[in-house]
Amino acid sequence: MERPASPPSLTALERLVQERPLPRHVGIIMDGNGRWAEMRGLPRMEGHREGSTSVREVTRCARRVGLKALTLYAFSSQNWARPAEEVAALMDLLREYLESEREEILDNGIRLNAIGEVDKLPRFVKDPLDRLRAESANNTGMVLTLALSYGGREELLQAARRVAEAASRGELSPENLDGQTFESYLWTHDLPAVDLVVRTSGEQRMSNFLLWQMAYAELCFSEVLWPDFRTEAFLRCLAQYQQRERRFGLTSAQVKREDSQRAKA
Ligand code: IPE
Ligand code: IPE
Ligand code: MG
Repeated sequence: MERPASPPSLTALERLVQERPLPRHVGIIMDGNGRWAEMRGLPRMEGHREGSTSVREVTRCARRVGLKALTLYAFSSQNWARPAEEVAALMDLLREYLESEREEILDNGIRLNAIGEVDKLPRFVKDPLDRLRAESANNTGMVLTLALSYGGREELLQAARRVAEAASRGELSPENLDGQTFESYLWTHDLPAVDLVVRTSGEQRMSNFLLWQMAYAELCFSEVLWPDFRTEAFLRCLAQYQQRERRFGLTSAQVKREDSQRAKA
């Protein structure tokens, strides 16, 4: 009698993921740090701290499987309205992260990038961020983008403003504004298309993340709280993505025909 297949081991799962086409760019809404801590009777900050270990693990895994771009939503434009004490602690943690991960980022060919209103960050975060961005600028292994003081609406607004300015200077005529030109005004202008967005902690909303970019992204909602979201949980999201059929408005038959034509070419 046939036994049901046992779930693949972590290394087998990683190998499976590596064999199939990977998303070009994965965005993660790292949520659930506060609840992780509160469930343990700890201050919320402890959840954020434990969450930075998940950042390290997930980044390592992304690099290992060969992902080209990973964007982590670390602090939203709206998160500034949290209690001052939590905001201050998060800023301290960010600085610590930039210092402690510096070597690993440089040694592994990772380019550190940031999107958001980064000028709003305190100098003690902005300075090490700028330094590491400059030091890693020529790395080509993977681009790790931190969304810091980031909001999708804020990003779209600044783009619209700059497009209007260019038009009023006569550098751009409104009828020539297409999607590609508009994207060149977004903070993500030098990143590949977002194929997958993951949100942890069971919440199913976008919370102002990559609003334009996720138009056709696949979504993966995980129940796991971010501090518990490690290699296996991440690989499961990638594996889930690899089983989806992306249709971009076409019919399934059209997509299959295109795929087989591409395979023959
Ligand atoms: C995500 O965890 C981290 C940030 C938003 C900075 P939360 O702090 O939102 O955790 P919950 O959602 O309250 O559990
Ligand atoms: C989204 O999480 C922002 C980050 C993960 C940085 P939030 O916890 O701030 O989102 P809401 O408030 O639940 O929508
Ligand atoms: Mg939250």
